[in-house]
Amino acid sequence: MRFDMTRKPFVIANWKMNANTQANQAWMDEARVQLTGSALACDVAVCAPFVYLPQLCEGFSHSAALVGAQNCASYSHGAYTGEVSAAMLADIGCDMVIVGHSERRTLFGETDAIVAEKVRLAYENGVMPILCVGETLQEREEGRTIEVVAAQLKAVLDTVGVAPLLRGALAYEPVWAIGTGKSATAEDAQSVHAALRQVLAQYDEEGAQAVRILYGGSVKPANAAELFAQQDIDGALVGGASLKAQEFLAICHCADAAV
Ligand code: 13P
Repeated sequence: MRFDMTRKPFVIANWKMNANTQANQAWMDEARVQLTGSALACDVAVCAPFVYLPQLCEGFSHSAALVGAQNCASYSHGAYTGEVSAAMLADIGCDMVIVGHSERRTLFGETDAIVAEKVRLAYENGVMPILCVGETLQEREEGRTIEVVAAQLKAVLDTVGVAPLLRGALAYEPVWAIGTGKSATAEDAQSVHAALRQVLAQYDEEGAQAVRILYGGSVKPANAAELFAQQDIDGALVGGASLKAQEFLAICHCADAAV
């Protein structure tokens, strides 16, 4: 058994801004049997655009699949037109939320401070935060990968500590691997995951061993098994390959096989 039982593998679909009512229904119909009861040994979640969360909460209500949002507000409530709070996610039965995805950091100007607030609010409202960190290609080529991801993680840990990540998860998503078809090698990803766990251990030695660290960036059925065989890779955050239920389930089965 590769996985420490305190770190049950976790595979998360991030549909990004790809969904519609009919396609979502077809995806759920295709996946439901395999996501029901104890059919899978890993934890599974699907993160959809806000407007489809009630459809997913309803559709997955009798399955083991968790439902997640892809973002939440960095404010608790009030005059923030267009925003959706963590409390609202909890209110509709949404289990988790992705926070600090690189697309939000780079395209929507989310700073480490904003990301930390979102993690705090998600945790305080009982919504599992999935915190994303990752370096750009330039940062990697400059040999600054560990420095960059450690700084992103510390900015959150300094504010909220390790507890929210014990509830949710940490995700390492190298920016250059997202949507490009270029995945990090399993060894490269493992070395970053191990470094992230060391940072966690500076704040909570015991907790660090139990935080699930997921890899994201061009994960597909063909490379998932090798990634999941690494000591500190506890699952995946899957973009493009999660849009087809069967591809996503094939990745889930790779996680199961690693248990
Ligand atoms: P891809 O799997 O499409 O590379 O996306 C990864 C990602 O950003 C998941 O959050």
